[in-house]
Order: sequence, then structure tokens, then C-alpha cells
Amino acid sequence: MARGWSAALVAAALGGRGAVVRADEASHQYADGEPIKLWANKIGPYHNPQETYNFFALPFCSDDDLANVEHKWGGLGEVLEGNDLVNSGLDMSFKIDRAEPVTLCAIRLDADKVATFEYAIRNHYWYQFYLDDLPIWGMVGEVAGDGAPSEEGGADGGADARAAAAAPPAAAPATDGEALMYTHRRLSIAYNGDRVIQVNLTSEAPAALVEGAELTFTYTVEWHPTEIRFGKRFERYLDYEFFEHQIHWFSIFNSFMMVLFLVGIVALILMRTLRRDYARYTHDADADDLDADVDESGWKQVHGDVFRPPAQPVLFAALVGAGAQLCAMALAAILTATLLTLYTGRGAVVTTCITCYLLACLVGGYTSGALYAQLGGRQWTRVLLYTASLFPAAVISTMAVLNAVAIGYRSMSAVPFLTIIAMLLLWIVVALPLTVAGTILGRHLGGAADYPCRVNAIPRLVPEKAWYARAHVLVLLGGVLPFGSIFIEMYFVFTSFWNYKFYYVYGFLLLVFAILAVVTVCVTIVVTYFLLNNEDYRWAWTAFLSGASTALYVLVYSIYYFALKTKMSGFFQTVFYFGYMLLFCTALALMCGAVGYLGCAAFVKRIYRNIKSD
Ligand SMILES: *[C@@H]1O[C@H](CO)[C@@H](O)[C@H](O)[C@H]1NC(C)=O
Repeated sequence: MARGWSAALVAAALGGRGAVVRADEASHQYADGEPIKLWANKIGPYHNPQETYNFFALPFCSDDDLANVEHKWGGLGEVLEGNDLVNSGLDMSFKIDRAEPVTLCAIRLDADKVATFEYAIRNHYWYQFYLDDLPIWGMVGEVAGDGAPSEEGGADGGADARAAAAAPPAAAPATDGEALMYTHRRLSIAYNGDRVIQVNLTSEAPAALVEGAELTFTYTVEWHPTEIRFGKRFERYLDYEFFEHQIHWFSIFNSFMMVLFLVGIVALILMRTLRRDYARYTHDADADDLDADVDESGWKQVHGDVFRPPAQPVLFAALVGAGAQLCAMALAAILTATLLTLYTGRGAVVTTCITCYLLACLVGGYTSGALYAQLGGRQWTRVLLYTASLFPAAVISTMAVLNAVAIGYRSMSAVPFLTIIAMLLLWIVVALPLTVAGTILGRHLGGAADYPCRVNAIPRLVPEKAWYARAHVLVLLGGVLPFGSIFIEMYFVFTSFWNYKFYYVYGFLLLVFAILAVVTVCVTIVVTYFLLNNEDYRWAWTAFLSGASTALYVLVYSIYYFALKTKMSGFFQTVFYFGYMLLFCTALALMCGAVGYLGCAAFVKRIYRNIKSD
């Protein structure tokens, strides 16, 4: 992108038509006969989406070609998503047919190459090309008498683009179980005016891998006019049947019912606890009777302790701040994705998330700063540093492990050193100052402790409780309903992430996000009410953890998903799967914990407002 623009600027400065020709890949407009590049991105086993290698990691062409392959730089997000586009070497021009097979290169097979190709074919290696930013997939080869994996099961997207990767039957009769290598690629490209609309890649001419033989790679290109508009060219990649299945609608409806039910329960609790207010408003003669019977109920007994700062206030405030920041990030990113078609760009989702995360530092700093000031703490620089670094530290430690594995495998999923430096710089230059600004704002605008009751000097004894009223049981139970409200959506999100589908239904995601927030707050309120009624005033951590325990269930679900819904195998992919899932669950835990705690704090402040502390 950057390269395209700078080239365009230079050409524009020089004047003339050059600008139009040079800006082709950025503007997606081509002149007749203009060269157009086919970029090779990655190659790897079909069932292991993160185990990707550079296209030329397989000995496709001789080594001297490899030394000076041209790279296309696409920005931070693209690199972080594990893309690295190199010139495939296919010579193509806009609207120029190549009906006769053109020879790309020939390789002589030695024992090494035979073994490498055979391994790749037996592990269902496939590769990804890009033409004018349209992705294309192709298989390396096939095992005679075996179906191509894109026809297996329901794992593959319904997009016909990918069906094109499936091979026609072998021309020469081959023994069953023999690995055959495709040597011919047929590119069929549709254009509308000066734009590329569709690309189909068909792999043909499977050849046996015999040591000492020569393999000649050839290709043909054909161009067809089409009426499909440029703006609609990505639609064939979207799996409507999968994402807009009845189940998806039904699950949203279901979660919505759960929301109504929980909101009803919380309303009941509020009505019960706030009876006295209503009695006062209506000048009810029975108000005194009500007082008498309410006084016996447990939650009022702990009014002298309920606003006692939680244990580890620094950590607590930082966790809530980090969670609030992630919430703000998720909300902003989902909103952006709903408004823009992010799925069409490589790395666009990651870039959006990083941008939103950086901006949300303000929210994180504000929340933790205000909360910590309310708790009466003094070590606010520590809170600030914890808030800014808790989640990034989790990301960095996970990435360190994953990167070590990726480098060991020479995979493209390894994050390059320069990208790591760039991320660190972003953290120091943007994240840290914004967190500081947020903290200062939070301390000054939201730092006043507006607790309705005074805290007694001597902490109250917490009575022995039945097993089901203990904090850890409540915490574990707290996650069940929020998990129930999101797990179907989790299935869709996981399937797009781990099974090559383009997630495009961000409207659904937004709804589920809202539902999750409401359900988490309601459940946390119920848990806290129960806890307070059992005369346990240590509600802050319980509220946070009972929201956060949602992520524990998602983690368990992800193990189930790994075992039954994917065909991933090998050390590399397993480490990547669980690394990413752990990170995702950490973020989810922080988010749900913060939402639960903040919602619950408002509830607690409200119900104790009319109790006089003595
Ligand atoms: C690509 O393949 C699909 C499905 O097989 C077909 O409908 C479409 O016309 C093809 N496009 C081109 C440009 O060949």
C-alpha cells in the first residue's frame, strides 16, 4: 500500500499517464495490457491454519530465483496476521489471454525434493495467492484415489472460489495412494471495465514424483468479461448459508429471552431492597412495619463494612481498568467493523483492534485512576503502570512462546523483530501517555468517594456459611449464564478464525456483546446480593471474579472445539491454538470482570443509600 502510494506520488510529480499506470494496485484500475502481479502469500497444511510457511519454502523453483523475489509490504496488521506477499513470477497482463501453456520453470527432482513434496501433498498442503487483493487458493497436489480436503466435511467455506481448488480427476491412471503433484495452473479471470472482479484457479496435470525426473510447471490465463460490479466482488467469499443460518438467529433470540428473565430478577431484588423508599414516597402507614422486617435481612447488617476497600486494591483497580479498556476497545472495533467492510483487507481487523486498543488507554486509565482514588489509595503510579501493562504483558509473554515455536519451525507466523520494536514503540509513545492522561482525569473527575455509608473501624466477623454460599462456589456459578448467552456466537467466531471463513456478521457480534454485558451485570448483582445477605461484605473481588469466570467456561469450550470441531494436528498448531485461546480468554475474563464489577458497584451504592450509618 505505502509503496503503491509513494510510487504514485513520484509518478504524479513526473507528470503524465504514468501515475495512472503506476497506481494500479492501490486504485484497482488497470489499462489494457498492463502487467498485473500475482502475489504468493503462504503455504501450509490445510487443517492447521497457523502453520504457514513462505510459498518458496517448498522447492518450487530453482534457488537463484528465490534470492531476489520481490516482497510487497502491507503494514503492521498484515504482518501481524502472518502475511508476506512475494512475487510468484507468473507473467500476466490485464485482459491478455495466454491460451498456450506458458512454462514457468522446470525443476529436476532429487530425493530431497521428492520427500518434501510428498510430505506436503500427504499433509494436504495448500497455498494462497493474491491477485489485485483477491485471495485465491490452490492445492499442491493430491493423493491418487483420495478426495481433496476442500471436499471433506463441512470445514471448508461454501465459497465457490475455494471449490476451484479441488482438482479434476487425474489424467494418467495412477496407483492408489500415490502422491501426485499438480504441474499446471489455469487462471480464469473475470473483469468489468478496467477492474478485476473474479479469479478462479484450477490445478491440473497431476504428475508422479519420481526421483531424477523433471517437472515442468506451466500456466494459462484467460480473461472473461462480466457484469458483476466491483463493489460486490468480495461477496462470493462470504458464506451466507453458514453465518445466517436459522440457528444463529435462534441463539440471539434465546439469549435475549435470558436477558429479559435476568433483568426481571434484578428488578425484583431492587424493589425488595428499596421498599422503604417507595413507602416514603407514598407515605405508607406501614412503613415502620416494613423497617422492622427489613432490618432482619442480612444485607443491611454489613453496612459498616460493605465499602471497606478490597484486598490488594492496587491490583484490583488495575484489573478493572484493564478490563474497561478492553471493553471500550471491543466496542469501538466491532462498531468500526459493522460500518466498514473490514474483511476485504489483509490485516484490517488487527490494525483496527490495535488502533482502538491504543485509544482506549484513556478509558483504562480513567477507570482505574478513579476507582483507586475512591478506594483512598496513594500508590497511583503503580496502579497506572499495572493498568497499562497487565494485558500487554500477557500478550507479550504468549507471543514470546509462540514466536519461539514459529521460528523453530521457520514458519511465517513468526512476528518479525522490527514489528516487535514497532509495537513496543507504540506502547511507549501512545499507550503510556494516554493512560497517564486518563489516570489524571479519573482522579480529578471521578475520584471522589461517594459512598453512602461510613466504614467501621473494626472489620465485622464473617459468619460460617453453607457450602453453596461460599465465594468460590458463587464465582464458578456466576459464569454459567453469561457463557450460555454467548457460546453459539463463540462457535461462529472460532469457526471463522480457525476454518478460513470470512467473519462478516458484525451486527450479530454487536448484539451478542450487548447481551453479554447485560447478562454479566445481572448475574453479578444476583451473586452479590446473595453474598451480602449471607453477611459477607467482601463483594468486590467476588463480583469481579464471578464475571470473569465466564472465560473459564469459554476455555473449556475451546478444548471441546479443538478436539471435536477441528482437524488440527501437530505440536506447532496445538501450541498456537491454545496460545491464542488463552489470550482470548484472558481478555474476555478482564472484560466480563470489569463489566460485572462496575455494574454491581452501582447497585451496591444504590441499595445502601438510605441506610444511616451510626
Ligand atoms: C469461477 O468459478 C465459478 C464456479 O465454478 C463460475 O461460476 C465463474 O463463472 C468462474 N469465473 C471465472 C472468471 O471463470
